[in-house]
Amino acid sequence: MILSDYLAQAEALARDCRALLDRLESATRLDVAKGQLNALKDDRLAALQAALRTLPADDRRAAGAAFNTLKTSIQEALDSFATRQVAGTGAERFDGTMPGRGTWRGSLHPVTLVIDEICEIFRELGFTIALGPEAETEWYNFGALNFPADHPAMELHDTLYLGEDTLLRTHTSPVQVRTMQRFAPPIRVLAPGQVYRRDFFDATHAPAFMQLEGLAIDEGVSFVDLKATLAEFARRFYGATRRVRFGPSYFPFVEPGAQMDVEVDLGDGKGLRWVEILGCGMVHPNVIEAAGLDSEQYTGWAFGMGPARIAMSRYGVNDIRTFYDSDVRFLEQFAR
Ligand code: DAH
Repeated sequence: MILSDYLAQAEALARDCRALLDRLESATRLDVAKGQLNALKDDRLAALQAALRTLPADDRRAAGAAFNTLKTSIQEALDSFATRQVAGTGAERFDGTMPGRGTWRGSLHPVTLVIDEICEIFRELGFTIALGPEAETEWYNFGALNFPADHPAMELHDTLYLGEDTLLRTHTSPVQVRTMQRFAPPIRVLAPGQVYRRDFFDATHAPAFMQLEGLAIDEGVSFVDLKATLAEFARRFYGATRRVRFGPSYFPFVEPGAQMDVEVDLGDGKGLRWVEILGCGMVHPNVIEAAGLDSEQYTGWAFGMGPARIAMSRYGVNDIRTFYDSDVRFLEQFAR
């Protein structure tokens, strides 16, 4: 063989190897690519190596250099194929070795989780779910609940009116009346829902928020049932060691009225303190009568709580607005 043929053959082999690797999809496995490359080059490379000895002595140095350049360029072509496999470009981008991209999974809002959990506890205690409209009449929201006609809660600056007689309910208590109208006792319901007030949005208030109403009506129901049920709820929700207490309170639709407090640490460095988590009481006879039941035959108890505040007391959160900020870093701490 003469030197010019030798150089041309070496150059052709390098070109063929590059062309083969260029043709392969970047998705081709590296061992498959190597196999094809070897099938193409092995005989021709061995022949070129053997041919070195057949060249005139003066040409061997140049041919040897060309042979080494050929081997390097085949290796470089293979390396660059492997790189293309990992990095890829455009539509060919594929890397079989890269860990899968995590898909973003949403989760329930902490207030929703608390509502679900409370509903589940009360379901075990025999309660079912009842719902009522968010746009209510004055009568269901106030009148039937024993608010006197001139009660300050009905003022324009406290309640969002939609019209003459229609308003956005300020609490879920109207569901008590609607439930007593529709179903005969015994009644045990839990009514979660959105309520609205002309409140400022501050650390402890929101103008629209969730409430959870509870109602139990039957013959011979007493304050003992109220206290036992709510204390049992607190035991299950907060754990048996958390202290709760009842104290007197006033709401026009209950008599007597009470509140339940729970001892919590809100995480603000002030340590344990009593926080009111719900209002409750024996349903006022006027409310039972307004709903069309006989208050001589039936008695019952009710409660109302704000799940966002419950969530605050549960998790030691001291600003209610964090539940509305939609800051995923905050919310995902509660994800299950
Ligand atoms: N409706 C009251 C409120 O929004 C909460 C409440 C208190 C509900 C006592 C009740 C109850 O059923 O018995 O502030």
